[in-house]
Amino acid sequence: MSKWVEGTVVAQRHWTGLLYSLQVEAELAQFQAGQFTKLALAVDGEMVGRPYSFVNAPAARPHEFYYVVLHDHPLTPRLCKLEPGDPIYLAPQPAGFLILNEVPPGEDLWLLATGTALGPFLSILGTEAPWRRFRRVVLVHAVRRTEELSYQERIGSLLAQHAGQFVFVPVVSREHNDFALAGRIPQAIEDGRLEARAGIKLEAQASRLMVCGNPAMVEDTVHALQRRGLKKHRRRDPGQINVENYW
Ligand SMILES: NC(=O)c1ccc[n+]([C@@H]2O[C@H](COP(=O)([O-])OP(=O)(O)OC[C@H]3O[C@@H](n4cnc5c(N)ncnc54)[C@H](OP(=O)(O)O)[C@@H]3O)[C@@H](O)[C@H]2O)c1
Repeated sequence: MSKWVEGTVVAQRHWTGLLYSLQVEAELAQFQAGQFTKLALAVDGEMVGRPYSFVNAPAARPHEFYYVVLHDHPLTPRLCKLEPGDPIYLAPQPAGFLILNEVPPGEDLWLLATGTALGPFLSILGTEAPWRRFRRVVLVHAVRRTEELSYQERIGSLLAQHAGQFVFVPVVSREHNDFALAGRIPQAIEDGRLEARAGIKLEAQASRLMVCGNPAMVEDTVHALQRRGLKKHRRRDPGQINVENYW
């Protein structure tokens, strides 16, 4: 199989500042919600590729990728200049274990993300599995500034569609507003604000957590959860926490 498949840009959405979503039509192998593929462009005659999670659910098209433009990055300053009709290259085989099949049965599913790591959780929430498998689903999106709370329309539709089952908790660290939790996710776990806001207790028997984003957030969140008696899930040693570092 060839290393790259050529796709076509369908749309580019500029959310704010350095945050963008790219929509692409491409023939790829089937993926599971929460997985990623690589996006690539030719740079100085060589293909440069980086992993990006699917935001779309597996049955939805076009494919969508949510990304932040990083200075001195070989790809993202070029990605954000792409326009509808432009070619882009993708790895044909998706990968990754941030998928619901890796999460053992439980009652409440908590999805904890920083920044662009919201993407894979939107893909998961676009499938039937979380709503069928869990009594309640909590999505926590932590960002620096209020304007970085992207995809509010999509989240609003999920809230309307799954009223009583779905809770959304925004967390904003560097600004105050009257609807988000202030600070960081691990603090909000430790001082009880996250559970109070969600109206759900974190407990080993009921809670299953998927944590994705800034590696420092993933580490600190796992520690906060461990202090509450939860542990990382491994196939041979079941626990409550599944993680993916986003960079
Ligand atoms: N290489 C990549 O693929 C890639 C992808 C995405 C992002 N990044 C890197 O991340 C930078 C910004 O990304 P971003 O806008 O998503 O911001 P971020 O630094 O990931 O911040 C998002 C949220 O995570 C919080 N956070 C940071 N460290 C934490 C910790 N140890 N525990 C708990 N929460 C923590 C931040 O709080 P505070 O405001 O308190 O710090 C903020 O609310 C980029 O410039 C880039 O360096 C890299």
